[in-house]
Amino acid sequence: MATTPAPKTYRVKSFGCQMNVYDGERMAELLGAQGIAPAPEGEEADLVVLNTCHIREKAAEKVYSDIGRLKREDGSSPLIAVAGCVAQAEGEEIMARAPAVKMVVGPQAYHRLPEMIAEASAGRRAVDTDMPAQAKFDALPARRKVGPSAFLTVQEGCDKFCTYCVVPYTRGAEISRPFSAIVAEAERLVEAGAKELTLIGQNVNAWTGEDGQGRAVGLDGLVRHLAENPDLARIRYTTSHPNDMTEGLIAAHGEVAKLMPFLHLPVQAGSNRILKAMNRSHTAQSYLEILDRVRAARPDIALSGDFIVGFPGETEEDFAETLSLVAAVGYAQCFSFKYSPRPGTPAATMDGQVAPEVMDERLQRLQAALNASQQAFNQASVGRRCQVLVERKGRHDGQWLGKSPWLQSVHFAGEAAIGDLVEVDMVEAGPNSLSGRLVATATA
Ligand code: SAH
Ligand code: SF4
Ligand code: F3S
Repeated sequence: MATTPAPKTYRVKSFGCQMNVYDGERMAELLGAQGIAPAPEGEEADLVVLNTCHIREKAAEKVYSDIGRLKREDGSSPLIAVAGCVAQAEGEEIMARAPAVKMVVGPQAYHRLPEMIAEASAGRRAVDTDMPAQAKFDALPARRKVGPSAFLTVQEGCDKFCTYCVVPYTRGAEISRPFSAIVAEAERLVEAGAKELTLIGQNVNAWTGEDGQGRAVGLDGLVRHLAENPDLARIRYTTSHPNDMTEGLIAAHGEVAKLMPFLHLPVQAGSNRILKAMNRSHTAQSYLEILDRVRAARPDIALSGDFIVGFPGETEEDFAETLSLVAAVGYAQCFSFKYSPRPGTPAATMDGQVAPEVMDERLQRLQAALNASQQAFNQASVGRRCQVLVERKGRHDGQWLGKSPWLQSVHFAGEAAIGDLVEVDMVEAGPNSLSGRLVATATA
């Protein structure tokens, strides 16, 4: 293989969940620290990192079409690195199927990108899908400038092994980053301009650690500590598992003002038979009881979830139970997916795989119900006054876009700047956003 000049410009494309967004930002910082610059908009980069997602079939197939699209007219390509969960799951296969790919790097190994780029430039293809928990964070450069709302990875991996899911295989076992490392990164992010931190992890509420006094703490202890930073205005966390929704965390929702009234708690299905086959270890009833307790602690909490339709064996009666659960909860927003068989997961070989057209039809009905629920939640917010964190300029002149405490997108006109916390009256609700009227600039 021929040698290539060392890359001068890069582009990182991230797919999938927030964890990948965070990893993509960290890879960009790492490349920046090597003197490689982001490629200007519209120009080809010397190095392209595809930070991939393996959660559903379509997501994984996309990688190969993206690789194809990077090919130039003369048949050559930029230096391509495949990172993320497809890299972890199918590293060798990618190398075999896509000769244009020179580097394959898993989600726990991307701190090694600089060495791998040197290898690839010298004409040697490089693969690293090792999973040393932790090592990567210690090897990454300090955080640089960030927007008003930043992600902070506190936990990685999953030990739950839901029967449909690849995450335990692509991200490895559950690990918690140490308290002190998280607190240090949070301080860095706040200094760099973050007003809101979203603590992220595949099972973020399974996070545990030891605080500065050596006391064992859970996510609620971490949240309480971070809330003491006077320059940090808002804290969120995602994604949670119902089994790790501790009393302490529920109580924190009622007691920590900076902890925003929003909870993303995936349920997946409303039928206990299906939940059991999914190995979810909660029932529809135990899930609803958790939500009752959260609502008791924080009555205005906005609820969100994930759903899968057409899991093997799902009957029309099972699906009807999903619709009943949706009606019972009154979600503010949700994600819903058709079941996608993933190689190597137990559900992929289960009896009773559901026909695609049945899945399509159920997904449509579910999404109609979820959209109606979201619209109703937004409609009920009209007349509320709340703080909005301004994240960017809106589409029209003088318009701003930000987030309400309930994670709704709110646009408004007037004097403001990115990073401001402003007081807004919500005046009109759409399905995906609200329009607001600026009241007065609050102290940020
Ligand atoms: N750790 C989180 C989220 C993991 S992936 C949790 O447990 O909730 C995000 C979502 O993708 C899941 O909640 C699930 O709804 C969906 N998902 C995962 N595997 C899937 C599959 N094989 N087919 C369809 N959807 C899937
Ligand atoms: Fe996947 Fe289940 Fe783990 Fe979530 S809890 S990441 S759905 S195995
Ligand atoms: Fe996708 Fe991996 Fe996240 S499979 S959803 S990028 S953990």
